[in-house]
Amino acid sequence: MKLIFLGPPGAGKGTLAVKAAEILKILQISTGSIFRSAVADGSPLGLKVKGIMDAGKLVDDETTIELVRERLAKDDVQKGYILDGFPRTIPQAQALESFSKVEKVINFDIPDSGVLERLGGRRVCRMCGYNFHAVFNKPAKEGICDHCGGEVYIREDDKPEAIQKRLEVYRTQTAPLIDYYREKGLLLDIDAKPMVDQIVINFKNALGI
Ligand code: AP5
Repeated sequence: MKLIFLGPPGAGKGTLAVKAAEILKILQISTGSIFRSAVADGSPLGLKVKGIMDAGKLVDDETTIELVRERLAKDDVQKGYILDGFPRTIPQAQALESFSKVEKVINFDIPDSGVLERLGGRRVCRMCGYNFHAVFNKPAKEGICDHCGGEVYIREDDKPEAIQKRLEVYRTQTAPLIDYYREKGLLLDIDAKPMVDQIVINFKNALGI
């Protein structure tokens, strides 16, 4: 199955994508994670995108589209994938249509108050990228990842000014994709407010699996 996860920053897309990928036996492709790895490696791509990401802005369409085009050409995603964080603009959605055929778009429905609560408490493993939360999902040992022992840190773009910028960018550039995909008959809305186990149920119900 070829899916897009669409929703505001901090809606829980990445958290559900990990579980959904296991259920459907397909890969999660997170453009945000790919960019963060590039930053951590200090590669030319990482040097180019670091400042943009830290400020909560979007990386340019050309760079992002090329990255996804190359990733979706690989053998391991020919049967299916979850695109987590792409497309984020109408030009990205139009470009995607030229190289892959998405079957469904899952739209995460959550108010700003829920987003702020989730992003304000997010903690991330620097090594494996696992998402924790300071209240809802704490690591057993403060600051240490339960899964790989890596350092758990606060993302640069989870600081208050960057969160506000990301929400503004979402409203102006990404939210128009909701109507774009609804008009194509691809959109499935899920209630993203409950805790994770319930969201997994909502997701399965939406897909009828
Ligand atoms: P990206 O990493 O994609 O950031 P995002 O879309 O802002 O999404 P987040 O990772 O912040 O949130 P999420 O919805 O995955 O929530 P999560 O599961 O972590 O992108 C980062 C940057 O990269 C962008 O700003 C941009 O610069 C660049 N970029 C990426 N893609 C791009 C593109 N296509 N074009 C241009 N630029 C691009 O959950 C959040 C927290 O809540 C966690 O702590 C989690 O534990 C907790 N949580 C999750 N679900 C629940 C729940 N149900 N109940 C309680 N807590 C929960």
